[in-house]
Parts: sequence; structure tokens; C-alpha cells
Amino acid sequence: MRTHGTDRVERGEHPDISTTEGTASASSDGGCAPAPCATPGITLFVCTTCRTPDAPADAPRAGAALVEATRAAATGDMAVKGVACLANCKRALSAALVRRDGWTYLFGDLGTEAAPDLIEGARLLAGSADGLMPWRGRPEALKRGMVARIPPFTFEEP
Ligand code: FES
Repeated sequence: MRTHGTDRVERGEHPDISTTEGTASASSDGGCAPAPCATPGITLFVCTTCRTPDAPADAPRAGAALVEATRAAATGDMAVKGVACLANCKRALSAALVRRDGWTYLFGDLGTEAAPDLIEGARLLAGSADGLMPWRGRPEALKRGMVARIPPFTFEEP
């Protein structure tokens, strides 16, 4: 029987992904062999150019502060990278969580205090057996703010 996202939500789950540094090596198909890999299992991309809706044009970017706070909260098995725009500007602040062997998630409407939520989401994504971020236990900001999820390279519709 096929499993749809709504089925997962009804079971208290939800499909998403990503975090561990150095457990496999990159191969030509984008996957990783069992040898050590420079790509962490989960990477958090945080938009550095997002601003809060009411911020003056010359104010420091809230996104830049969010990426620094997320870096400070990250554990050794995840990478945090700043990126100038995730094309989700109307729902700033924005961040994406990418699991090397799983799904990618894009979030918006994040507050300036969202770093712990992003780290918890990354932890959930990294620990999931199916490469999806579980719905149950996911921080509210990552439920309300979910914009999209993108399947892994190896995804095939069952
Ligand atoms: S400026 Fe942050 S998504 Fe575009």
C-alpha cells in the first residue's frame, strides 16, 4: 500500500530529512561510499540576507544573526552555512535543512530566536529511519513555517 504524506501526519509522523560529519565519502553519483566523507549528514542553510518585516532598510539583517546563533547551537555532526537568499523572501526569515541521504526541507516565517528549533529539526531529520523529518516532536516553528520538502536524488515513487 502506498503511503502518502497525509497518512504520515495522521500517524503523528511527517516526511522530512539531515547531520553527521565524516562517515562516508562522496561518490560520482552524489551518494557516499562507506569510507569517510567530508559532507556532513545534515547541513543547515540559513539565509543571511533576510530581514524582519518591520526592519528599517539600513538595519542589520536578522538572517545574519540567525545564522550565527544557529552555528553557536549546532553540534559537531551538522554543518551550518549562510546563504544570500533562498528565494523565500516573502516568508522571511528562511532556512533549509538538507540531509545527505534524505529529504530537504525549506522553512519560512522563522523568528530571530529560531536557532534551537532549527537544531532540533536537524536532529530529528538526522535520526529518522526513512530520511523524513518526523512531524511528532517537531518544533512548532517548523510545522507552521514549512514551505516545501524535496526528495533525495535516489527517490523513486513506490
Ligand atoms: S532574502 Fe532571505 S530568502 Fe530571500
